[in-house]
Amino acid sequence: MSLAIDALLLEREDGVRLLGPLTLHLAPGERLGLVGESGSGKSLLAQALFGVLPSGVRQAGGKFTAFGLPLDRPGKERDRIRGARMAWVPQDPRQALNPLLTLAQHLALLPGIHREESPSATQRRLAPLLERLGLPAGVDFSRRLPHQISGGQRQRICLAMALSCDPELLVLDEPTTALDPLAQKAFLDLVLDLQRERSLGFLWITHDLGLGSQACDRLLVLYGGEAVESGPAARLLSAPRHPYTARLLAAARRQPSSESGFLPAPQDRPAGCPFQPRCPDLHENCNHWRPWQGSPHDGLRCERPLEPAPRA
Ligand SMILES: Nc1ncnc2c1ncn2[C@@H]1O[C@H](COP(=O)(O)OP(=O)(O)OP(=O)(O)O)[C@@H](O)[C@H]1O
Ligand SMILES: [Mg+2]
Repeated sequence: MSLAIDALLLEREDGVRLLGPLTLHLAPGERLGLVGESGSGKSLLAQALFGVLPSGVRQAGGKFTAFGLPLDRPGKERDRIRGARMAWVPQDPRQALNPLLTLAQHLALLPGIHREESPSATQRRLAPLLERLGLPAGVDFSRRLPHQISGGQRQRICLAMALSCDPELLVLDEPTTALDPLAQKAFLDLVLDLQRERSLGFLWITHDLGLGSQACDRLLVLYGGEAVESGPAARLLSAPRHPYTARLLAAARRQPSSESGFLPAPQDRPAGCPFQPRCPDLHENCNHWRPWQGSPHDGLRCERPLEPAPRA
């Protein structure tokens, strides 16, 4: 197993639950999508994995291991995992880029730490990757500072940094939001090519079920910090069982809907299923906490699931 997250629970300092308890497992080379709307806890999960939870948020329970090693216990082995075997493309490139360092200095950072490689050796080694990412070659570009390039270029520099030590596992947090549709497609194709060539596994975080299903074999749908449905991407697209997955699917297909509104704030979430205020098919049991049915691989949490599609 390259990544195992078991009953991870993240809370605000005042005890309000933000995420979990969440369990998910990722096999080597597997492509898992974490799908959910704004505020559902996707970025917090990534930040917890990399040990950079924002102030005001704490891990209140659970554990995670990568390549069999506990990530929440300090140690040399763990330090070798983060940034090298497991790398992160954060949602906001400003989290990864230092305004005072040039692009070349950024690219040399992780290989300098994890491989003791010289900046010039890193530059030579990474040149083909930068070319594939459509980033200009030459010193004029590599000497620029992060604010001197476009938002899309910053996102691709973050991807190049994440790939700079040949990781086995990538966590991509909405990596294509700053890209136009053509650049988005090119980015997706590149990550999928790298995934095949290097048997790279990834956790692709997105609010877009359509994009998630193009990028991934398996999807886990989050709502209000809770996993509500998980399964093969093709199955979730053809026969979603949780009403929220069905809503996401309609949104991805741009189908008209009378439903609107936002995810309730964490302190306003109801007991039981977090989707109750927006669910078209409530049952009296929905306000009780419902255990996850099935494995983290293929499971569901719903009192009144949609009927499975009839077999053809
Ligand atoms: N530092 C913080 N202190 C308190 N609450 C926080 C903090 N950071 C995030 N939250 C809350 O945690 C919840 C999940 O936030 P998170 O950033 O993980 O959402 P997300 O799913 O990544 O959303 P988006 O799609 O908009 O990026 C939100 O309700 C957010 O307001
Ligand atoms: Mg986010």
